[in-house]
Amino acid sequence: MWLLPALLLFLPGFSTAKDQITGPSMVSGQERGSLTVRCRYDPHWKGHKKYWCRGADWGTCATLVQTDTSEKLVEKNRVSIRDNQTDFIFVVTMEDLRTSDASIYWCGIERIGNDPGFKVNVNIDPDPQIPVLTVTTTAPVLTSTPSTRENTGNHGETQTNPPTWSLLSSIYFLILVFLELPLLLSMLSAVLWKHLFNV
Ligand SMILES: *[C@@H]1O[C@H](CO)[C@@H](O)[C@H](O)[C@H]1NC(C)=O
Repeated sequence: MWLLPALLLFLPGFSTAKDQITGPSMVSGQERGSLTVRCRYDPHWKGHKKYWCRGADWGTCATLVQTDTSEKLVEKNRVSIRDNQTDFIFVVTMEDLRTSDASIYWCGIERIGNDPGFKVNVNIDPDPQIPVLTVTTTAPVLTSTPSTRENTGNHGETQTNPPTWSLLSSIYFLILVFLELPLLLSMLSAVLWKHLFNV
């Protein structure tokens, strides 16, 4: 009785490398906060290196942290990884999150041949503590931001500058309202017009 469902669960594991590891397809964290991702793997990958990779393309993503086949915690910059070989799970933690951390990541297992991987979408919600401009009918006013944002000295990471970002987003908003919206509306009315009178 149990054999058929068991086979159905088991068989796909052989079909592609991707089924050998699972995790959340979407994770959210708040700017300046942290997030944790748990990836479960097939027990036979126990003694393999596990890693966390950034980039939409699985073949070319950049590994941020990697275990050394043991359960030892490995930390690099604001990211850590720990393998649990009793539970067959590895845990990735990203700390001091920035909006620029939003990306596609992968839980991966190193092996000879095609590494098994699982795609994880990471969202970062902007910190409500950081003043973000609300667009009014008047020209945008730059608000001052606390200059006490700690810089932990990580390389390869540019910190987003909230005033610039706000200005850019208000410019984008203006473009959206004054250019894209009328364009969309005119296209919509053209389609409607055609539909109503031309058919
Ligand atoms: C692995 O998980 C088990 C059960 O949750 C826990 O007791 C153990 O301490 C964990 N090991 C590591 C290395 O975190």
